[in-house]
Amino acid sequence: MRWLSVLALGIACDPAAPEALGSNTGDTGVDPCADAAITTWETFGAGFVTQHCQPCHASTTNERQGAPDTVTFDTEEEVLAQADRILARATGDDPDMPPEGGVGADDRYLLEVWLSCE
Ligand code: HEC
Repeated sequence: MRWLSVLALGIACDPAAPEALGSNTGDTGVDPCADAAITTWETFGAGFVTQHCQPCHASTTNERQGAPDTVTFDTEEEVLAQADRILARATGDDPDMPPEGGVGADDRYLLEVWLSCE
């Protein structure tokens, strides 16, 4: 199965990753979770959330801009507890978090791998 992870790592570095991920669920048999080992809170999640989500979703921010008090992403535990909603809002074909965009396709793919393959 070694070739599988090599192939999936290639996809993670490919700007076309979201399309590739979509097809992964169908015909190709490639398992996106082969990347899970390299996407952890330490290697990916903390930096991603700090940069893209905490401006509105940290407990300490003064600029929530309407983000609900209950939707706070200070820790890995808080993020994982809300993984389903994060996947719904920040990954997939039509993500709307953060509202102003600015997250690259590669990072959205890695977010999906991280939260889907725990
Ligand atoms: C510029 C401010 C801002 C940023 C940055 C931001 N959000 Fe939000 N978020 C909001 C606001 C405002 C709401 C409430 C309105 C809504 O749900 O659209 C919200 C609501 C949410 C909700 C709860 C609603 C639901 O559908 O369950 C989730 C989950 C969420 N955001 C995830 C994220 C993630 C993940 C990121 C980072 C990738 C992020 N947000 C970045 C402003 C922001």
